[in-house]
Amino acid sequence: MLPGLQIDHDSSVPVYRQIADGFRGAALDGRLRPGHRLPPTRDLARQLGVNRQTVVAAYEHLAAEGWVHSQTGKGTFLVDPRTVESRSPEPGSERDTADGWLTAFSQAVDGPNVGGLLSVYQTATAIEGISFGASYPARELMPVEAFGRAMAATLRDAGREVLSYGPTAGHAPLRELLAATMRESGSRIDPENVLVTNGAQQAIELVFNTFLERGDAVIIEEPTYTGALSVLGSIGARAVAVPVDEQGMRPDLLAMALERHRPRLMYVQPTFHNPTTAVMGEDRRRQLLALATRNRCIVVEDDWASGLRLEGDELPTLHALDGGSHVVYLSTFSKRLLPGLRVGWVAAPTSVTERLIRLKQIRDCGTTPLLQAALQSFLREGGLDAHLQRVLPVNRERRDCMLQALTRHLPADAAWTRPEGGLFVWVTLPRNFDGQDLLLAARRRGVHYSNGTLFHSNTDGNHTLRLTYSTATPSQIESGVETLGALIHERWPSRPDSGDPKPVETMPIF
Ligand SMILES: Cc1ncc(COP(=O)(O)O)c(C=O)c1O
Repeated sequence: MLPGLQIDHDSSVPVYRQIADGFRGAALDGRLRPGHRLPPTRDLARQLGVNRQTVVAAYEHLAAEGWVHSQTGKGTFLVDPRTVESRSPEPGSERDTADGWLTAFSQAVDGPNVGGLLSVYQTATAIEGISFGASYPARELMPVEAFGRAMAATLRDAGREVLSYGPTAGHAPLRELLAATMRESGSRIDPENVLVTNGAQQAIELVFNTFLERGDAVIIEEPTYTGALSVLGSIGARAVAVPVDEQGMRPDLLAMALERHRPRLMYVQPTFHNPTTAVMGEDRRRQLLALATRNRCIVVEDDWASGLRLEGDELPTLHALDGGSHVVYLSTFSKRLLPGLRVGWVAAPTSVTERLIRLKQIRDCGTTPLLQAALQSFLREGGLDAHLQRVLPVNRERRDCMLQALTRHLPADAAWTRPEGGLFVWVTLPRNFDGQDLLLAARRRGVHYSNGTLFHSNTDGNHTLRLTYSTATPSQIESGVETLGALIHERWPSRPDSGDPKPVETMPIF
């Protein structure tokens, strides 16, 4: 219960607004701290003597304004007021008076974490100052002219075909090429088992909706990709978070989580995990598959950064190791080539592909045929290989430059990964470091990056940072990391807690 919260039933301010205003005021004047859990709606309704729906409306109002976030099964938590003040509407403003809508929305648009992906995307695409925020390939290296030639040739040779409705599952020659490429990496797969999607994000959305109902348990890595959390929130599925170490998801904790939660599926990124950059070794891959098979848990493998290895040997995908029986594989051309194409794909057993295609038809009637055909022509002519030959050395130089800058400018006790590939570095500061404060201070100095909380299903990760190296020049990397280093030094806790993961007994998975 919030001290001092009094309901005035004679007021012209609706009761739900009085409750929301009470919590907002307490967050602003510091009586309630960020991360504070709001009382369960039933309890607060009883204490205030109001209808439970009124409290639900108050919490929804706070959520719509960005003051709280909800986690299925865990509760509703206050966020840091510094991140929302500027978003609050003026009383009487258009947004304020639109409140009549607030109880009308579905889980699909207002569930926990649903807005997370959009806010990451908005930060990532706002290019001003020095940006380490986007998980993007470098714009200046995009093969614009070569892709333009492929587009022109496609329109010339097959204009009428590619400007008509295309097959829902995708352009047949592209599906053939994708299946052939996967076969070269050891997968057993036919073109009929490939569905072309609008990027990996749509692949995740289609796959999750194919298997999950509201309330279903799903195993995720903690931390994990924000876009997967947003889809789970929109379905109302229950995220069971299994912590990762330097090799990705921990099998001992996975075994416990499988036993206890009987999840429908698990979502994993075995290679260049976003955000921690971890790569799962082959033994652990086999262990994970054995556990999943034993517990009849579908494995969704997100291989988003395939092709972006900078050093070390390629490892077999889970799909290749498993023979394609229990693994639904997805990947994308967004990171290795061009994010604006919005082309990704799913590879799955026949019965799954058939259902994915039904859903794809409902969602958008198929990915743009013109782009798929141009992409296939670009790939057939060796455009991707030529592009990667140009990009990978640049990525390697930028990664090394960032690692050197971190060594130069961060306190000796800070920790960061040395990624073997992908697009970013993951930095861990002491647990009691205020990452949100650092984020805002860095933004004021023109340096942008992603705070670790974005990748958590709970409020954890405020002491972690994801820094993308691929989109910044070496001089931007040096000066951006120097700025970050100075801000981190100024804020370094006098008695730093370790940034190491918490001991197993207290891991937040149950
Ligand atoms: C792990 C992961 N999966 C999927 C995606 C979505 O990629 P796409 O742009 O192809 O939709 C991203 C994008 O950042 C990602 O990091």
